[in-house]
Amino acid sequence: MNHPFLFLLSCVFLCALSSLANSESQRIPEDKLLVLTVATKETDGFRRFLRSAKHFNYTVKVLGRGEEWRGGDYMSAPGGGQKVRLLKAALLEIKSEDQIILFIDSYDVVFASGPKELLRKFQQAKHKVVFSSESLIWPDRHLEDKYPHVREGNRFLGSGGFIGYIPSIKEMITNWTGEENDSDQLFFTKIYIDPAKRKTLNITLDTKYRLFQNLHGALGECLNIAAETGDRAAGREKRRERREDEEKRDEDRRREITQDREEN
Ligand SMILES: *[C@@H]1O[C@H](CO)[C@@H](O)[C@H](O)[C@H]1NC(C)=O
Ligand SMILES: *[C@@H]1O[C@H](CO)[C@@H](O)[C@H](O)[C@H]1NC(C)=O
Ligand SMILES: *[C@@H]1O[C@H](CO)[C@@H](O)[C@H](O)[C@H]1NC(C)=O
Ligand SMILES: *[C@@H]1O[C@H](CO)[C@@H](O)[C@H](O)[C@H]1NC(C)=O
Repeated sequence: MNHPFLFLLSCVFLCALSSLANSESQRIPEDKLLVLTVATKETDGFRRFLRSAKHFNYTVKVLGRGEEWRGGDYMSAPGGGQKVRLLKAALLEIKSEDQIILFIDSYDVVFASGPKELLRKFQQAKHKVVFSSESLIWPDRHLEDKYPHVREGNRFLGSGGFIGYIPSIKEMITNWTGEENDSDQLFFTKIYIDPAKRKTLNITLDTKYRLFQNLHGALGECLNIAAETGDRAAGREKRRERREDEEKRDEDRRREITQDREEN
């Protein structure tokens, strides 16, 4: 997947131009941003992530290095709890209250613009925490009705990337007591779909890919900081298939019930 990576880098120039035209008065200084990521293994994808981070001068702290991964495989089942446990432990060690944390997957992500651009877009989102978005609901599609509607873009939360003020993120994960293989995405989803928590914690989704861009089928845009490639996109495809199977099963079942009723 080298090609999209290069493509995105070439976009940075344009993005930089657009940020010149948009200087904000109370900008968050770039040194307030800390990138946290979990990588138990040094995969090629992870090295690519680090190269892109270095290119843009992001400050990155890698969590879970050398640890055994017990968070599931994403492809067949939910998982990722281990990431939340590691994040929680890391945040407890950070004493400053004014930092901005970007927590992001690193095996299949590259940066496509710098910290300044990212912070500007974060500030424009006018929320304390911004999650990446997905077009499919996962892992529990029965929660769909509880999701607020969006006028444009993706409606569902993705836990592959989020950014926010450190006190809000600490608060958000304070109740995490899950297993290593519990779903991080379900954990964050349940917080997000709770209207009171969504409001108090001041969470929103990046529904229009302004901060987090999924590369899968979206190569025409360059308004992004982090782009997904590879495994996660493949996982998403698997989920789509699985979801279609589930829907078909439900549909068959409904049909059976209707038929039974008609026959009786
Ligand atoms: C890179 O980031 C460090 C720490 O935030 C900062 O001191 C340094 O000036 C930055 N360098 C460039 C080239 O932006
Ligand atoms: C969310 O926080 C921003 C400031 O970061 C504030 O302007 C906005 O009113 C808050 N929204 C809610 C719903 O509390
Ligand atoms: C954490 O748990 C407490 C006690 O059940 C609850 O009042 C609070 O809303 C929870 N916080 C979050 C962010 O889920
Ligand atoms: C999750 O891990 C626990 C042990 O910590 C195990 O008993 C359980 O079967 C695992 N669940 C899945 C879905 O792999």
